[in-house]
Amino acid sequence: MSILTATATANANIALIKYWGNRDDLLRLPSNGSISMNLDGLFARTRVAFQSSLSQDLLILNGKKETGKALTRMVSFLDLVRCQANTDLNALVNSENSFPTGAGLASSAAAFAALSLAATHALGLELDEGELSRLARRGSGSACRSIPGGFVEWLPGVDDRSSFAISIAPPEHWDLVDCIAIVEPQPKTTDSTEGHHLADTSPLQSARLADTPRRLDICRQAILKRDFDALSAITELDSNLMHAVMMTSSPPLFYWQPSSLHLLKEIQDWRQHGLPVCYSLDAGPNVHVLSHGDAAAQVKDRLEKFPGVLQVLTAKPGGPAHLK
Ligand code: DP6
Repeated sequence: MSILTATATANANIALIKYWGNRDDLLRLPSNGSISMNLDGLFARTRVAFQSSLSQDLLILNGKKETGKALTRMVSFLDLVRCQANTDLNALVNSENSFPTGAGLASSAAAFAALSLAATHALGLELDEGELSRLARRGSGSACRSIPGGFVEWLPGVDDRSSFAISIAPPEHWDLVDCIAIVEPQPKTTDSTEGHHLADTSPLQSARLADTPRRLDICRQAILKRDFDALSAITELDSNLMHAVMMTSSPPLFYWQPSSLHLLKEIQDWRQHGLPVCYSLDAGPNVHVLSHGDAAAQVKDRLEKFPGVLQVLTAKPGGPAHLK
């Protein structure tokens, strides 16, 4: 019996300029470019073992055997890898998240970035960073941004070859901290994949897309110049724009909980009183609160005392996906 195995680790990421909507759902070609920061310590570690003795792919996630949607999605992704490697071997995939399960942080970005690296390495494919990012994109769009390190931009491209992510600054470039206020431990009701399908039903999406190159420029420059005020303004605007599109889609998607909104107002108040801090929300109610390294301890302390906040996770800028 032959076993081809590899283990890889990849961080989750928080988008500062969000990906929302696809030009091509099958290829996951995004309607707009996006920028994110990898989250150090919030990772998926995935071991892949291709073995001739297996009659089908198996997925163990945080110690639990998965069936249904999660397994089907992984099998479709492994089919792409098998096609590139010209093999029909099935795999046993064992993946653990470093962050608490039940925190509502199910990160497909970390999962598919780690799976891309482990599966291709196990089968002896030697992909460069751009090729790996393109492959990870096919599993989950945001996963392409978890392949390079630090602060990352996903170049939307025009086709499969030209749509991948690159690092715009290494993790040590800026000591930002993301304090993630968990307000709702349940998994989200409408997952991102379904949400992307609805984006174009909002009359606001075309305006959001038309303005995205401007926001990308401002965000990229703010990162390069370490300008927190500029970053705060553009990050909050971009998050609000995405949620405005979500809330005006058919059917509408409301990801915020009352405690999310209470927090947004509180964070604006903290900033007006001199604390360098801003918020961003993905497709869920948990609030990502960004601040400088110097202010992070105070931000975490305040968040922990805030009514409705169940737990606060913190992460600095993280490195690239890597083996082991
Ligand atoms: C709101 O990458 O999770 O987090 O490609 O269907 O897996 P799929 O979608 P996904 O979408 C991420 C949406 C977002 C914004 C972002 O991370 O850019």
